Amino acid sequence: MGPKEVFLISATLLAMIMAQEDNTCPALCDCENSHGEMTVTCGGQGLNQVPAGIPTSTIWLVLKYNNLARIGSHDFKGLRQLKGIDLSNNKIKKISRGALRHLVHLDNIDLSGNALHVLSEETFAAPLAAARQDGRRFFVFLANNPWRCDCHLKWLAEKYANATDVYSERLVFCNSPDNLNGSYVSDVPLSDFKCDPEVTFVDAEQGDDAATPKNDPRVESGSSKPLSKGATIATIFVVAVAVLVALLIMGRIGKEYHAGKQDTGTDIETRPMIPTDNREVYM
Ligand SMILES: *[C@@H]1O[C@H](CO)[C@@H](O)[C@H](O)[C@H]1NC(C)=O
Ligand SMILES: *[C@@H]1O[C@H](CO)[C@@H](O)[C@H](O)[C@H]1NC(C)=O
Repeated sequence: MGPKEVFLISATLLAMIMAQEDNTCPALCDCENSHGEMTVTCGGQGLNQVPAGIPTSTIWLVLKYNNLARIGSHDFKGLRQLKGIDLSNNKIKKISRGALRHLVHLDNIDLSGNALHVLSEETFAAPLAAARQDGRRFFVFLANNPWRCDCHLKWLAEKYANATDVYSERLVFCNSPDNLNGSYVSDVPLSDFKCDPEVTFVDAEQGDDAATPKNDPRVESGSSKPLSKGATIATIFVVAVAVLVALLIMGRIGKEYHAGKQDTGTDIETRPMIPTDNREVYM
């Protein structure tokens, strides 16, 4: 076999692999290319994770009526052409802040009918900024989720108060706290989106990064998440400062407690250690 044959065989194999790459469709999905737009539909298949092997040319991705419980930061990796994702009617409790980070063409995401009680505004920041820059409209559907109307969801109420058409208000109700259960998020006064410090602390212990501010020292004391591989000296420094601040604050509370304030001890315990409202990001 001469070099010419070897070249031909290699080229044929490569072409076959590339053709396959383009034609693959995940086992439980239907991939349809119509008018040059690839639509991948994997609805009602009992999926508990976003399937691998979704074509990179996918524009519309339909994952409704499955059992997805969380969306991680790599679930849509490589799907940079995505314009729309339908995740409605799953069991999603948590969406990683970075899940949509690379989707600069995205302008439609349906999260209706899930188990979300909190969502970070940052989740939509990158695709929303890209849409704004291109003059495209952007839509987020959040209906029928058990939203917890506390300080972490205040940003959404502010959007509603500002009448942005990005976030649909339709069927977006608070489920907790009890006194707000059943109220439309858009009807609740902004001043009612408060955090009980004890509830916040429990969140941090569960490692719910969607709910906890990045620079909150309590995350350090409560979270079991390891530092990322790329942790730099700067990160370590910041963490060290955060721990120091936390220790100082705890020390001060301890001192106040021992300085004859036992009668008001419960007041001290429920007082917010850190202002919880200074976490607004983007826009
Ligand atoms: C919109 O909401 C922000 C808070 O996120 C507020 O600062 C701003 O004044 C509001 N803008 C308008 C036009 O109401
Ligand atoms: C909110 O109210 C509904 C009934 O109106 C009830 O089914 C649900 O359990 C309540 N949620 C909480 C968190 O109490």
